[in-house]
Amino acid sequence: MRDLKGLPKVYERFFLAGKTVVVTGGTGILGRLYCKRLVEAGAQVVIADLDEDKCARLAEEIIEETGGWAIGIPVDLSIEDSVIGWSKKGSGQM
Ligand SMILES: NC(=O)c1ccc[n+]([C@@H]2O[C@H](COP(=O)([O-])OP(=O)(O)OC[C@H]3O[C@@H](n4cnc5c(N)ncnc54)[C@H](O)[C@@H]3O)[C@@H](O)[C@H]2O)c1
Repeated sequence: MRDLKGLPKVYERFFLAGKTVVVTGGTGILGRLYCKRLVEAGAQVVIADLDEDKCARLAEEIIEETGGWAIGIPVDLSIEDSVIGWSKKGSGQM
């Protein structure tokens, strides 16, 4: 077996403290899983999806479950103005 001494442990390699991650489609089946795992890895997660209530509820759920940091900011990624508005709103809150 290969000698693993000296290699960082998995959680060290994927430690995301100090990073902010935007998860598009964040309230979907895959998105919500990514959001939770990323917060568990120490990231601040911004949930970007269509429905404002779903974004807010997921952020609350994640904070409650993990004690980490998440925020939901709704956006329609197919509409340029929505994305521009989202980035302005987001940069004020991140
Ligand atoms: N679930 C799987 O097992 C799986 C496997 C392989 C590939 N995929 C692909 O991965 C992607 C995500 O899969 P999923 O199962 O999480 O899908 P999902 O439908 O559960 O989630 C997609 C999310 O994207 C959001 N969304 C759609 N249009 C948007 C827009 N214009 N602006 C912002 N948000 C928008 C939806 O509201 C939804 O919450 C899809 O492209 C899917 O085809 C999924």
